[in-house]
Amino acid sequence: MNYNVLATTYSEKAGTIHLAPFCEVYDNKNINSDYKFWFNRPEVVSKNSHGLFPYSPDTDIKETLQYDESRIIWSILVKGPKHIGNVSLQRIDLINRSAEIAIVIGEPDYYGKGVATFAVKEICEHGFKKLGLNRIWSGTAATNIGMQKVFEKLGFKKEGIFKEAMFLNGEFVDVYEYGLLKEQKNIDPFEKVFGISSEKQSDQELINKIEEIRGKNNKRWMDLVRLAFDSVPEKAKDIMKKIVDCDKQIQEASSKLANSDKIPMPKSYTGN
Ligand SMILES: CC(C)(COP(=O)(O)OP(=O)(O)OC[C@H]1O[C@@H](n2cnc3c(N)ncnc32)[C@H](O)[C@@H]1OP(=O)(O)O)[C@@H](O)C(=O)NCCC(=O)NCCS
Repeated sequence: MNYNVLATTYSEKAGTIHLAPFCEVYDNKNINSDYKFWFNRPEVVSKNSHGLFPYSPDTDIKETLQYDESRIIWSILVKGPKHIGNVSLQRIDLINRSAEIAIVIGEPDYYGKGVATFAVKEICEHGFKKLGLNRIWSGTAATNIGMQKVFEKLGFKKEGIFKEAMFLNGEFVDVYEYGLLKEQKNIDPFEKVFGISSEKQSDQELINKIEEIRGKNNKRWMDLVRLAFDSVPEKAKDIMKKIVDCDKQIQEASSKLANSDKIPMPKSYTGN
């Protein structure tokens, strides 16, 4: 692997998804990236303010790559490795403990596959746990249904409406302001992260997923269980059921591997 993986998951539709520091991905010759074309794609810019001015990647990226404590940018990668999006916390305000979340998936083929939900969840976790933030917020056009669904799935609250605050495609549209407070953080989205349907998978993918589930069971499930018993005890039972379910899936995948006629023993496996 020629970049550091900050978080990883597997989704049925998108395959393995990695989050990595943007500075390690941009200009990395081993990573397939069409980054400089994203903001010229109508599907990418039609519901946000990107693309209003002719895009100048060099200027933008030079600024972006400068170390700046008010901003964190992570890249989203899929198998290839292919760079398909960026997620960031920007306007990090260490006095008011808040930050704005921004995300762009630049490859429309990956829309509706759970990528944004995963990436936003992970960077919010980082914001709350590592940066000590109390509030993460963002505004999105009323026409941007995908973004609203992501926020709602992750427990963000719609805090207000700025009437006709954005001029988009020749008309004024309302902007919805969303916010997530540390204490509101919804734990349900973690459910989506797991799930093995091993039918169509190679041995290598099975191994990768077992490793992933095990890794998350050990760390994340235990955090969740603690959090649930602490603050939402009614959820704790569900989480325990899911742990049992994941264990069953690991067992199924492991027996599949044990009965496989190939012996999957790569010298080093990078996950891509
Ligand atoms: C908005 C955006 C981030 C959503 O990313 P995504 O990876 O497609 O989102 P997810 O797959 O996690 O979607 C979450 C839910 O929203 C749904 N969804 C996604 N896009 C949708 C759309 N255009 N219309 C309706 N529903 C949509 C998904 O199907 C999913 O629903 P489900 O959980 O019921 O299956 C992505 O479309 C994008 O980057 N757009 C361009 C940039 C942009 O607008 N950024 C936000 C600026 S504020």
